[in-house]
Amino acid sequence: MLYQEIELFENPRDVIIPKIGCPPNEPEMTKFESAFLSGLLKKFKPKRILEVGLAAGGTSAIIMQTMDMLGVDSKIFSVDLFKEFYLNKELESGYLAEKAKELLPDVYHKRLLGKLAFEQVNEMGGDFDFLVLDTVHTMPGEILDFLAILPYLKNNAVVVLHDICCNAISKDRMWVNKLLLSSVTSNTKFMQQDIGRLNIKCHPNIGAFVIDANTRKYISDVFSALSITWIYMPEDNYLNAYREEYSKHYDDECVWLYDAAIKVNKKIKGCK
Ligand SMILES: C[S@@+](CC[C@H](N)C(=O)[O-])C[C@H]1O[C@@H](n2cnc3c(N)ncnc32)[C@H](O)[C@@H]1O
Repeated sequence: MLYQEIELFENPRDVIIPKIGCPPNEPEMTKFESAFLSGLLKKFKPKRILEVGLAAGGTSAIIMQTMDMLGVDSKIFSVDLFKEFYLNKELESGYLAEKAKELLPDVYHKRLLGKLAFEQVNEMGGDFDFLVLDTVHTMPGEILDFLAILPYLKNNAVVVLHDICCNAISKDRMWVNKLLLSSVTSNTKFMQQDIGRLNIKCHPNIGAFVIDANTRKYISDVFSALSITWIYMPEDNYLNAYREEYSKHYDDECVWLYDAAIKVNKKIKGCK
């Protein structure tokens, strides 16, 4: 079997969430999903964690609490493209993470807002051994960021993908992370049945994989997946920034596949 199960670790969420005064819809992960994430942290005990897609920061708080309970001296970086919390512009992205930081002074957590993750690598450093990707879920979304961050991930780094079944739960076009999980090459993938989210024995909404030599060797497959219809078209300055980054780290075939995906999707959308 390719997909392995992870032992769930529920305590961190139960401990920290009541203390930081989360509104009822926070964090954006269910109990099962948080326990899956904390279970992976418990198994792999990463030292350098990158979270892309911070939002209010409820999940960051759970990551902080997990590392504190495990007694692992980790550095945690949480990035959001937007300074304002996307569901309430009067609040800052990561405001719940800041509250958790006050309660967990020994845990290193840095919040970085207003730029793409790879644009902050100078400030954060690379060598991440754990990545959580949870951003827009529509094409091209997380695939663009994963490809840009992969060069800064260690071999054996764990990549956690949230909302891999979002197409069934909220909006039907939110399937980027499932496409990534399915198109990436890895000998170790994690995904297990969740009976919670849809109240039926069901496909889970979270999964993960481990970076190995073949992930990098066969990365063209992920670039190739980018041609599948884009739901939004990033502005040219973003497209160019990603291209510049890919050109530094990947071969001509990958860059060609990226350019081709843009051309196909501009044609679909009728842009020049
Ligand atoms: C679904 S929410 C994240 C939920 C959060 N991980 C949680 O569990 O509570 C998505 C967040 O990703 C941010 N975002 C969108 N595109 C991004 C990108 N390319 N890089 C970083 N953050 C991004 C949005 O501003 C939003 O705050």
